[in-house]
Amino acid sequence: MTIPEHFPEQVVEDALAAFSGRPENLLQMLIRIQAALGHVPVDVMARLAQALALPLARIRGVVGFYAFLSETPQGLYRVRFSDNITDRMQGGPALLEQMCRRLWLEPGHLSEDGLLTVDTTSCTGMCDQGPALLVNGLAIPRLDPARIDRISDLILARTPLADWPEALFQVDDNLRRRDRLLDHDLAPGDALRTALARGRTGDREAAANARSWREGMPGGQGPLATLEEIKHSNLRGRGGAGFTTGLKWEACRNAPGDARYVVCNADEGEPGTFKDRVLLASQADLLWEGMTVCAYVVGARQGFLYLRGEYLHLLQPLEASLARRRRAGLLGRDILGQAGFDFDITIHLGAGAYVCGEESALLESLEGKRGIPRNRPPYPVSHGYLQRPTVVNNVETFCAAALVARHGGDWYREAGTAKSSGTKLLSVAGDCSRPGIYEYPFGVTVAQVLADCGAEDAQAVQVSGPSGVCIGREGFGRRIAFEDLATAGAFTIFNSQRDMFLVARNYTRFFAHESCGFCTPCRVGTAMLKNIMDKIEAGHGTPYDLAEIEQLDRVLQTSAHCGLGHTACNPTLDTLKAFRPAYERRMTSLDFEPAFDLDGALAKARQMTGRDDAGAHLSLKDHP
Ligand SMILES: Cc1cc2nc3c(=O)[nH]c(=O)nc-3n(C[C@H](O)[C@H](O)[C@H](O)COP(=O)(O)O)c2cc1C
Ligand code: SF4
Repeated sequence: MTIPEHFPEQVVEDALAAFSGRPENLLQMLIRIQAALGHVPVDVMARLAQALALPLARIRGVVGFYAFLSETPQGLYRVRFSDNITDRMQGGPALLEQMCRRLWLEPGHLSEDGLLTVDTTSCTGMCDQGPALLVNGLAIPRLDPARIDRISDLILARTPLADWPEALFQVDDNLRRRDRLLDHDLAPGDALRTALARGRTGDREAAANARSWREGMPGGQGPLATLEEIKHSNLRGRGGAGFTTGLKWEACRNAPGDARYVVCNADEGEPGTFKDRVLLASQADLLWEGMTVCAYVVGARQGFLYLRGEYLHLLQPLEASLARRRRAGLLGRDILGQAGFDFDITIHLGAGAYVCGEESALLESLEGKRGIPRNRPPYPVSHGYLQRPTVVNNVETFCAAALVARHGGDWYREAGTAKSSGTKLLSVAGDCSRPGIYEYPFGVTVAQVLADCGAEDAQAVQVSGPSGVCIGREGFGRRIAFEDLATAGAFTIFNSQRDMFLVARNYTRFFAHESCGFCTPCRVGTAMLKNIMDKIEAGHGTPYDLAEIEQLDRVLQTSAHCGLGHTACNPTLDTLKAFRPAYERRMTSLDFEPAFDLDGALAKARQMTGRDDAGAHLSLKDHP
């Protein structure tokens, strides 16, 4: 297996054919080409530009934007170690070093024989079974020295990936606690049948009295009645922001225009979050059902699942499950025999960009562009995919919506709190003996979750990932609910041995790395924040730097273009508040110290001239 087996011309033609030669499928074509050739050469981009009638600069811009695409050769094997804080705690960096030593290469550089690159990447969503890596996009969890040796041997022997032992790629679900979502009894089609039957019986008064929203809408009052159930359930989005799902669907349904879209956000890039991975692996039918119910309600004919590139291992099983549904009449034309009820779902892959989880960036990415968040308003419900009305919901939201469609809003509201109905899936990882997925009715305390997962010595929990909140022991009585601790699902535990400064520094680096660079406050601010944390780590921090962090936060809060920038200072501010000694013990001076070590920079010159006398040193202390 060598690279020349793939002829670039053929690879391009295949990619164009596979994605109907449509410019909005550009990213999918590039992902395919990258997989086949190990990179996207400029002449290949030129051919694509010609075929798609796009400027070459636009294509280069897309390749440059996504971490998993590259203009320069990356080798036959592209290994990326997950660099999340939990992977680090589980020994990831030492394993990366082991592999680089074994294979004689520097991280981030193509090996001399062009065989491979080894590098790091942001969280791969395997925190419950880390440390983890991706090889050519496929996840290998539970790394240890023996696995690293095994992988290195396979690479040295140039074994095709298809012949690697399957056990290496085994990803576990680790379902630890089930409630009404994970324990549901729905068979494929049950929620849809109920929704269609509602059209015949018109069982919610509001729906019965409402006008049909569009002449000839299939299902009569069914869509409206189902919408009323979704609204009545008070289901709120599980992707983080907690917007009311029924209102979102209603706004999309009422927006002018004929074509409408349903998009499932399975980007799940927030470090520490992996519950969507498990839902996609174990509840795909429930997700498709929720998306199809949504299509029925809003009148969409096309849906998309935007699947993060790190979950490539799920692509084939998900495609197979879609195919089964088409055969069962649950997707395609005249779904379940309902004339005119047509809907299908296409899976699009992401390519390693956290910001693409932001819904408007996701839509840009879905249209084959760089994932830069749009100006809002207008919102996706009226100007979404291709500027058409679009519902974007999280995986868990669609799954919950399917349950509501089947069992009704009252049933759903039986669980949870006044403002947070139903249940929430938590991705529990870090310092505990039973990491995995825990489903609780909203209102559960942090202390209860810690007790259930075997976290005996927790000093802090990062709730909802770096963009969420870090709480210390005094906050363990708080509740997981929109009215207290809102969360997209991450629940990362740190015991009393952990240095919370290093935790915050890892998160700060994550934001600096993932900033899309579109707006100056975030592009510069996240880099400055990272530099300040590095400076403190190097022992040069002062109270001035701590004040600078607060100032940066004010700037980012008020002038960053999207949520990434708004939340980038959260981990630093929270840990400063709860774990200030972790910062202060690194500070040696009360006076300002520059981040740049001028005297250190002269070390090379001193070495070359053989001098080390006082005059060969330049420091602020020596030269006030
Ligand atoms: C930087 C950033 C990343 C995000 N990542 C995700 C994500 O991975 N998955 C997700 O569902 N929502 C994510 N969101 C929230 C989405 O913008 C959007 O609110 C969500 O998909 C709506 O679905 P919901 O109403 O079902 O929660 C992110 C937001 C921001 C600002
Ligand atoms: S805030 Fe950051 S991620 Fe968001 S648009 Fe600006 S640069 Fe991009």
